[in-house]
Amino acid sequence: MRFYSVSSYWVVLLLVLVVKAGPIEARVAIASAHPLATQAGFEMIEQGGNVFDAAVAVSAALAVVEPAGSGLGGGGFWLLHDAEKNNSIMLDGREKAPLAARTDMFLDEQGNFNPQASKNGALAAGIPGLAAALVHLSERYGRLSLEVCLQPAIRYARQGFEIGPRHQKLLRFRLRALQKNPTAARVLLDHGKIPAVGYVLHQPELARTLELLAQKGRAGFYQGEVAAKLLASVKRGGGIWTQQDLDQYQVVERAPIQGEYRGIKITSAALPSSGGIVLTESLNILSAFPLAQFDAVTRIHVVAEAMRRAYHDRALYLGDSDFVDAPVARLLNPDYAAGRRQNIRLDRALPSAYLSETGFEADAGKHTTHFSIIDDKGNRVAATLSVNFPFGAAFMAEGTGVLLNDEMDDFVARPGTQNGYGLIGGAANAIAPGKRMLSSMTPTFLQDESRVAVLGTPGGSRIISMVLLATLDFAAGYGPDSWVNVPRFHHQYIPDQIQYEKGGLTDDEIVGLKALGHRLKEKGYRYGNMQAVQWNLKTGRLTAASDPRGEGLARVR
Ligand code: DON
Repeated sequence: MRFYSVSSYWVVLLLVLVVKAGPIEARVAIASAHPLATQAGFEMIEQGGNVFDAAVAVSAALAVVEPAGSGLGGGGFWLLHDAEKNNSIMLDGREKAPLAARTDMFLDEQGNFNPQASKNGALAAGIPGLAAALVHLSERYGRLSLEVCLQPAIRYARQGFEIGPRHQKLLRFRLRALQKNPTAARVLLDHGKIPAVGYVLHQPELARTLELLAQKGRAGFYQGEVAAKLLASVKRGGGIWTQQDLDQYQVVERAPIQGEYRGIKITSAALPSSGGIVLTESLNILSAFPLAQFDAVTRIHVVAEAMRRAYHDRALYLGDSDFVDAPVARLLNPDYAAGRRQNIRLDRALPSAYLSETGFEADAGKHTTHFSIIDDKGNRVAATLSVNFPFGAAFMAEGTGVLLNDEMDDFVARPGTQNGYGLIGGAANAIAPGKRMLSSMTPTFLQDESRVAVLGTPGGSRIISMVLLATLDFAAGYGPDSWVNVPRFHHQYIPDQIQYEKGGLTDDEIVGLKALGHRLKEKGYRYGNMQAVQWNLKTGRLTAASDPRGEGLARVR
């Protein structure tokens, strides 16, 4: 390099980049939960990468700048569409139960559920899938190298970034659990306390882990130095991971769920996520109702009744399709939906207890991220990634910067016992060695004759109902700005109530829904963090929107 002057060095470098990667070909829209992650995606496009390279960069960047939501210690689902091949697939990078996991591992000798153990600490963690998924996504679909795509994330981890109010709020929510893990506390807290907004979070150990992944691919995470540190920390923390678990972890390409609603083609997450099935079943139930002609109360009532029934089926039947024979074709069949629709009355809510047998007894009894990318050829990615609760298990493996997930809480610890999101279920979602826990993550594509939409959101059990409400808004002709703004309500069968976000229902709607027999529960906050993009097939125009409830960035370039 010393033969070149500084300026000619840059000219040569630019030429090399242009020759190697080609010029920027497409216009692209990206919406993600953090401005630095959106920026990381555009960096790849500027270097000649495609939407899949951008997705690798955004996923890795989110693992650094939004550690509450997702990370190398977690997993997720990437819904991909290759426009040239006209092919959509779901990349399943969901965590798996360790091989030493047992159905009753979160129950004490009396059979009582210990909800702490499935949410905090090493035992709560499934075998992570994010690192394997990034390698797969990059090798199979990308144009740039994995090393290039991980650069922005490595930079953010090493140079640090300023934390925002949302990060701070979620730290406060998980403070007690984080304080119990000295490694997580050392990295994420400021001398044991919540750092101020604007505090620069440096994660040098995470930078090193990402570098090893960039250099060695899968082996950089699931073998060698990082794997040894993960296993040692998990063991010290009372967890049950082994090297065999890490060796056996595989991502899976699955056929997405396909459905149709009033001429809109739905493409969404397949098992082990319940998202696409519950979304499609809800839409099938709703398809016979003239929603646009209903007054607001009747409309909300009918949508909640559809949610109640689809979530009931989720609880009854759904689990990892590699382990259980879920009746997916039946649940997606329009005739089945017609049967489910029959006992919906316009003048009365049906208590959840009156739905057919439950198969389990119910007893009384948050964080993730989504990004959406599309280019002006129709290539697209909808990805919902998670460590489950904010900051996962609040347990960081020493020397790796990796926060472990607490996704084991998405299993059914005991039939009828509610998990962290109040969800219940039965044998289909019981814990078993090597099984994937049932998810609600719903990365989704919608397409009608003039528009393609890419959307999704975090929000635990409420993810599916949020995507449903956005889909109905798409069907009503609105665009991304409107979908991310829709006031949110939710019914998940048990608890038998319509939950709604702060201010999500008007006074008149509250009175009207109560009169129909609904129990209502207002949440003290507005929920969700939807990221959505749209491609207008007629005008070629790209648009993007980021949920006003979050701190994300949506841009078209
Ligand atoms: O996979 C699931 O359904 C959950 N682990 C998602 C958790 C989540 O969205 C938390 N966000 N607030």
